[in-house]
Formats: sequence, structure tokens, C-alpha cells
Amino acid sequence: MPEPWEVLRTGDRVTLFSPFTGRWTVMDAETLDRARSQGWSDGLRLRLQRLGLDQVPTDEERGRLVPVRHRRALLLPDRPAVWAPDPREHGPGGHAWRAVPLDAEDLRLLTAIDGSAPVTKVAAKAGMTAAEALRRLARFHRPELQVVQLRAGPTRQRDPSLLELAGPPRAANARTVDQHDAQGATTLAAWHHRIASGERHFDDVETTVAHALALPHPALGGFPYGARLRGVLSERGFATEGPVVEVGCGDGELASAWLDAGPVPYLRVDLSPELLCTQARAAPASRGVLGDATRLPLRDASVSLLLSNEVLADLPAVPVSADHDEVRALRRSFGLAANPPGSWENLGAWQMVVEVARVLAPGGRAMLSEFGEPDGPPEEAVQLDHPEVSIRFDHLVAIATGLGLQAELVRLDDLLGADLDAPQLARHSYEGLRALFAANGQHLAARAWTPGSVPLPEAVEGLEFVPLTQPGPGPLVTRFHALLLGRPAAG
Ligand SMILES: C[S@@+](CC[C@H](N)C(=O)[O-])C[C@H]1O[C@@H](n2cnc3c(N)ncnc32)[C@H](O)[C@@H]1O
Repeated sequence: MPEPWEVLRTGDRVTLFSPFTGRWTVMDAETLDRARSQGWSDGLRLRLQRLGLDQVPTDEERGRLVPVRHRRALLLPDRPAVWAPDPREHGPGGHAWRAVPLDAEDLRLLTAIDGSAPVTKVAAKAGMTAAEALRRLARFHRPELQVVQLRAGPTRQRDPSLLELAGPPRAANARTVDQHDAQGATTLAAWHHRIASGERHFDDVETTVAHALALPHPALGGFPYGARLRGVLSERGFATEGPVVEVGCGDGELASAWLDAGPVPYLRVDLSPELLCTQARAAPASRGVLGDATRLPLRDASVSLLLSNEVLADLPAVPVSADHDEVRALRRSFGLAANPPGSWENLGAWQMVVEVARVLAPGGRAMLSEFGEPDGPPEEAVQLDHPEVSIRFDHLVAIATGLGLQAELVRLDDLLGADLDAPQLARHSYEGLRALFAANGQHLAARAWTPGSVPLPEAVEGLEFVPLTQPGPGPLVTRFHALLLGRPAAG
């Protein structure tokens, strides 16, 4: 009796894929070999049964199954076509995407799928027999085109298993040799000097919270990130009507929005020559200087307001295992407990806080935002093409207070008063739409698009919008904190 699945191989893993329903499961190649030679264990048998992978279903049985659409697949009704990721091609930038032409009957059939009606009902709705529907659907549950599955019953709303594709895992980003020093510490100066396209960098390489929310957004009361930040810091008594120093200014959108809300002297400090040029174009009324956050090119006690968004994690982090003189010295000076083996110490972030303490004038305030935990060990973000390490904020608080600053740690969404229920384009829909724009020779920026703001190159059906607490085009705002620092006023 032939096995009711096709075997797809990825390294030492195998996927058992049913060409009759599009359902699949993954296991070690060794487990499959053992099961084939020594028989299937009860546990594996149960797993296959639950997925309907234990036998070839008859057409009558398949007619009773419920067709569900993959959440990544989009319909392009005007062509008509289905726009879907190729499960076999999965590079560091995501899947390759392609348009698969449909005829009018296919389109009617795919549109009739509602995730709860069985094939027989969907077929009737689409004006065809169940046998014809099954014949047509078979094209959409193949290893190379995973757009539909036939399931035993209705799916939950937004079932996460309908985001998974059977195929190779995403290829890892390559790290370059100049991203670590001899002691294994992260060093991103050379990487920052290589940034070649400032305008596209935060769409293509590393999207930040500020970039994703740089257009007016309902989550921020209809304001862009920079204007909202200015408003909430003003409410907290920051001198927002006075001179600003921003460290690590990205593509200059914060500077631009801040200055749109009222002109002030605005100085940008950044390590990237290309980004400094981009920032100057975005915020021509500001001034820029090439400089390092860990050695600020600023006089002692000269700054009344310092801003820095998502820079701390770019600064050198040292593996806990490295016997690093400066880490040891700062740990001793500020009573910092060592992080667990295998983790990191945020040396560059510690140095930046020391620098901020040096440059803040009496009464001066600073806001440093970054992803990380109040007291959890730092971790490397592996999805990027360069090593960024999350921040352990209690160490920064200890250094700041040790240097006579007042320090308060708040969640970034709390600081912004963000409405976390506000919608944004789901990350998987963004990936598909962005690929569709690219196929048309156009570019889709990495913004937290809403149903009202998302641009479309043609009619697109199947886009999902999720609350800010779920992945969108940018990082999850709920993973970020803002460290608010203040130098007490003199006297
Ligand atoms: C992740 S981006 C954040 C950009 C922007 N603040 C935002 O939130 O969109 C980091 C920024 O800090 C700059 N940067 C990185 N390391 C730096 C350093 N050691 N000193 C000064 N700027 C640095 C980068 O060039 C870039 O502009």
C-alpha cells in the first residue's frame, strides 16, 4: 500500500506532505526511517491521524472536509491570480513570491472559501460540482503552491498554523567578520559606515518603531512618532521648546516631525556619514555632526534635552565569558551583577549612559529608548544582518543613579500613550504586499499601515490587519522601554 504522503527533505528533517489535503508534518529523517523499518509508534500514529495523514481519503470524504486559505496568500481579482510565497525559496529577506494565474471558476472557488463550510457547500456557492471543486483545489495544495488546505473542521480565527509553509527554514543572515572584535564583542562602526542608501535603509534593512510609526497613526492619536514624543515629553516637564541633541537619528524622521511641531535648535550626532546626509535632507533646519554615542562630541553639562531612539542595542556588547577590563571596572564601580554565561554585557550602552551623565546640564533631561528587559539578560536579535543585543535596563539605571541622575524606566508604549488596539498591516501581509510592489517596480515603505492608509498597486484581497501587540512591518513596540534620565537642577 503506497504511503499517503510525499516526502520533502530539508537537511536531516523530512516533511510528510499530503497531496490530497495539503496537510503536513515535520520529523527527523531518522524517525521516519525507524518508523518505516520497525513500525509506527502510537504517538506518531496519532499525530498522522489528527492531520488526516494516515490514509488516502476518498473523494466523498474529501467533499466533507473544510477548505481553508493560507493566511499569506493574496487574491488579485482583476488579473485574476493568486499571489503566493514560493515555499521552496526562503532567503534571509523572506520568501520569493509569484503570481499564479487563475481562471474565473478558480477565482469564484477560492473566493467562496470561508474557513467553515465544507467542500460540497463551497462548490455549490461557486456554482460547480464537488468533484469539479476538488479537481480545481488540488492545484492549490501542492508542495510548490500551498494556498489551500482541506481540514477536518472549521479553523479558528487567525489560526497561526495557517501562516506556516512546508519547506526549508528561512536562511540565516550572514554575519561579516568585522561585526565582532577579537574578544567577541559586537562592533558595528564599519557596518554603519557601509550604509549606502539612507532613504531605504529603515525599510529594507532594519525597521524601527519610530520608522514604522513615522506617518500619522491612530495608535498615537493621529500624530507621527516624533510629534507624539514631543507632546508626551513636554507633559512630563522636558524642555521641548529648547535646544535638542539627538543621538543616532536614522533617516531624520524624528528630527523632521519634531521641528514641524515648532522650530528649535536641533543637533544630530550620528556614526553613519550616509545617514547624516539623509537626515539633512529630511530635516534641513537641523545640524549634523559625525560622532560616537560612547564618546559624545559635546561639552560637559551643555545639553538640556537629549533624545536617542534605538541606538543602545547598536553599541558594543561583550560576551559574558570574555574577561574584559572595562566591563570588570564598570561592574565594580556601579555594583552591576554579572549576566549568566552565554549572555552579554551592554558595555557600549553603559558607556553611553556615562556620557549622557557627563553632558546633561543641571535640569537637563534625556530619553533613551531600546528593546530589552527591565532586568533580564541581554540577547542577540538574530533576524537582522548585523548583531544587535537587547538591553538590560536595570544596569543602565544603576549607572545613571550612581552618577547622580534621576532615572525612571517606562514601557515605550506607556510613554507614548499608544493605543495598542489600533490596527496595523500584519507582518505576513506586509511581506506579500511589499513583494507585489517590487514585482511592479515599486517600493512599499515599512510603515504600520492601516486599512485606511495602505497603498495598493491593484485590487488585493486577503490582507490582514492586527493590533499593535502583534507583528507588523516594524518591531513590536511592546518589547521596548524608554529610560528617562534627569540631572537635578542646581541649587
Ligand atoms: C537602529 S538606528 C535608529 C534610528 C532612529 N533613531 C530610529 O529610531 O529610527 C540606529 C541609529 O544610530 C546610529 N548609530 C549607531 N551606532 C552609533 C554610535 N556608536 N554613535 C552614534 N550613532 C550611532 C545609526 O547610524 C543609526 O542612525
